[in-house]
Amino acid sequence: MHDQHDLSLILDSRVPLVVVETHDEDRFLTFLTGVVTASATGDYRPLFRWTITDGLQRLDIEMEPQPTNSAPDQVLRHIRAVSQPGIFVLLDFHPYLQDPVNVRLVKDIAIKAEEGRQTVVLVSHDIELPPELDRFAARFEMSLPGDKERANIVLSVVEEWNSANRGSVNVDQRAFDLLVRNLAGITRADTERLARNAIYHDGAISESDLPAVAKAKYELLNQQGVLSFEYETARFSDVGGLNRLKAWLEQRKRVMQSDAAGPPLDPPRGLLLLGIQGCGKSLAAKATAGILGVPLLRLDVGTLYNKYHGETERNLRESLQQAEIMAPCVLWIDEIEKAWQRAAAMMACHAGC
Ligand SMILES: Nc1ncnc2c1ncn2[C@@H]1O[C@H](COP(=O)(O)OP(=O)(O)OP(=O)(O)O)[C@@H](O)[C@H]1O
Ligand SMILES: [Mg+2]
Repeated sequence: MHDQHDLSLILDSRVPLVVVETHDEDRFLTFLTGVVTASATGDYRPLFRWTITDGLQRLDIEMEPQPTNSAPDQVLRHIRAVSQPGIFVLLDFHPYLQDPVNVRLVKDIAIKAEEGRQTVVLVSHDIELPPELDRFAARFEMSLPGDKERANIVLSVVEEWNSANRGSVNVDQRAFDLLVRNLAGITRADTERLARNAIYHDGAISESDLPAVAKAKYELLNQQGVLSFEYETARFSDVGGLNRLKAWLEQRKRVMQSDAAGPPLDPPRGLLLLGIQGCGKSLAAKATAGILGVPLLRLDVGTLYNKYHGETERNLRESLQQAEIMAPCVLWIDEIEKAWQRAAAMMACHAGC
């Protein structure tokens, strides 16, 4: 409902350029078509879709694509020339915004749109707008599926399996709830795909599906490669001593593994493991994830500083966001002392300069 309201507002406000970054192109197009066809009849604007492969095609009513308008500059010249109002969705146009001719054409359209009521909607996974177009643009972000929608997606995959196999998926209710919780933070299409992976190989939803779901989700999210997914976690029996840590974790285990219906307890926030080399800090971090039964993500401070020189803050922010999407999980920040060493070195350098 929120999304519908926000997008209608943007379209009604006559912003000439709308930027939508999404991996769920189909979902966005279906959603936009719904918003456009539901809008007040007096103010109705036809909706078009463009791709480099098919050219321009009317979307709100069924019509054949026009391959004559498939070249990027051709479609822009066409939009610039039309006098009727319209909404033009350009899919994956981002590479063509490197060309100054296309940038100028989009700017022409934006300037003219104030009287003609044309809106260009750019849809890609990642769009960096040239600065001269920035002031004409609004960004729209589609919200990700909420709890209820995710549960419905998993149920629809269950039904799909049932009718394809003339049977019924063996559903463990607790595993179902955990699966729905663990699918948070990804698009509708990815949710469906991961649910299908979990169900189709054995016709069941069980707790044994959860590690593979966590791994697949991590692979979707971690495009920068600063966080790593640790496949091997340890068990209590692998760790000698550390009895207080074991007791502490055992008490908190229930909170991490409980679903939304469980008691409203605060999850554990963090642990600082401090000790000499080889005393078992890494082993304890692995055991923490193993005991709590959640995925383990390792953030190596050394890599964070070295890998993308000058982009440490952005990488740290992105890594923390990814860890948040992967929650519940254990985020293992290894060799945290390196962060202080670097910070001290940088301060010394600044002081010396
Ligand atoms: N309490 C323990 N029980 C069983 N094995 C242990 C224990 N402590 C350390 N080890 C073993 O000793 C080795 C070194 O441990 P680990 O890598 O966890 O140490 P660390 O504190 O992370 O070291 P570093 O500071 O070099 O990263 C590993 O093979 C680990 O399995
Ligand atoms: Mg270590």
